[in-house]
Amino acid sequence: MDKFRITGGRALKGRVSISGAKNSALPCMAAAVLSAETVTLHNLPYVKDIITQRRLLEDLGATVLTPELRTHKITARHIELFEAPYELVRTMRASVLALGPLLARFGKAKVSLPGGCAIGTRPIDLHLKAFEKLGAEVRLESGNVIARAPKGGRLIGGEINFEKVTVTGTENLMMAASLARGITVLHNAACEPEISDLAELLNKMGARVRGAGTSRMEIEGVEALGSAEHTIIPDRIETGTFIAAAAITKGELEIKDCEPLHLAAVIDKFRDAGVVIQELNPSTLLVSSRSELSARDVRTEPYPQFPTDMQAQYMALMTQAEGLAVIEETVFENRFMHASELQRMGANISVDGHTAVVQGPTPLTGAPLIASDLRASASLVLAGLVASGETIIDRVYHIDRGYEKIEAKLRAVGADIERLRDSVTAPLAQSEQGTRSSEYNL
Ligand code: UD1
Repeated sequence: MDKFRITGGRALKGRVSISGAKNSALPCMAAAVLSAETVTLHNLPYVKDIITQRRLLEDLGATVLTPELRTHKITARHIELFEAPYELVRTMRASVLALGPLLARFGKAKVSLPGGCAIGTRPIDLHLKAFEKLGAEVRLESGNVIARAPKGGRLIGGEINFEKVTVTGTENLMMAASLARGITVLHNAACEPEISDLAELLNKMGARVRGAGTSRMEIEGVEALGSAEHTIIPDRIETGTFIAAAAITKGELEIKDCEPLHLAAVIDKFRDAGVVIQELNPSTLLVSSRSELSARDVRTEPYPQFPTDMQAQYMALMTQAEGLAVIEETVFENRFMHASELQRMGANISVDGHTAVVQGPTPLTGAPLIASDLRASASLVLAGLVASGETIIDRVYHIDRGYEKIEAKLRAVGADIERLRDSVTAPLAQSEQGTRSSEYNL
């Protein structure tokens, strides 16, 4: 498996360009299954999850042309398979996004349940309950969810009240309801920018989705959806990660091709902690941090609050801030696996349930580390950039799932980071090896 070797202590300086949002690209690719016509998507990030999603679409029978590296032309005219198999779902939970489109257009779908998870506790029970509200029959058989539309093959619009805000759950239902008979109302819908991006694409395809970006959405089902061309929004989590990289190394980065409006809570929190963030134009930030950082508490919550996907990177930054920072994780249970790795580098962190307390600043020293999930890997990279000596991060296939060429982008702005390749395995093939059931595959 590939590793990263980082020698810390260099202030980053220069310009970095942000890629398209993985979490927007994945549902938009799935949405192509709703139509027999071609959906063209631009600005897809070149990351492993997109390759996995493409493979899923091709396995279903869709054709995917790539006229340019970041453009996919997806045509799902002939679908032959109605299933997302375990082999794919275990490496990428977002494979469950195939469920809504397949069920809506073909009246049937089978998706393997992510490993180690049971319906009723986690992780897709809310999706399934909502499909039932649209008239689907849902049953569990040999580790698979099998869903069927009611007689006549078409879902029926209904009222859905999500008990908890779920991003992919909202997306799955937006797609399913787009081809249902009648009107569907989603209450307590997720409001993430990725939801609005998907709504924009669906409406370009001929859907009638209203209220995206608010907690109440209304979707009027149509008979069929057509072709569309769409550009994916910039990745707000990659943007936040580079802000943290500039801040932790006390460098200066110009971050371009981003959408600052999508990370207002993150920018506010960083500013409050002493990071200087200037908006040079609507898509470019200039980030610097020469003075001391101050510890600030944070609580992760659904959008527009501080995102759980920035919690690990924020924790790395807080190891370098003066004072005590209380970090509360309210979205996912036990999402502090990076804390013990940061402790091994010298960080002073105590974890109690959903809360981590970081006492800073502490000098970090390089160490051999193991990445446990996508965003945790990013936090270890940040820590490695500021640590004295050499840090080796193992299992970087996690980071390849969601960050486009992070080591090349960091090296271009002065970081001393290199990929130590597994001699025989191709660079992006690593995550084929799968994740352990204890690891998040968000
Ligand atoms: C998405 C993002 C992920 C991000 C997360 C929260 C994608 C591909 N991934 O994941 O990067 O960290 O949103 O912002 O967009 N839950 C249930 N039952 C369900 C669904 C969810 O209990 O049926 C729980 C989850 O266990 C979790 C919470 O709801 O505690 C939020 O999860 P959810 O928003 O669904 O996360 P994802 O959509 O999987």
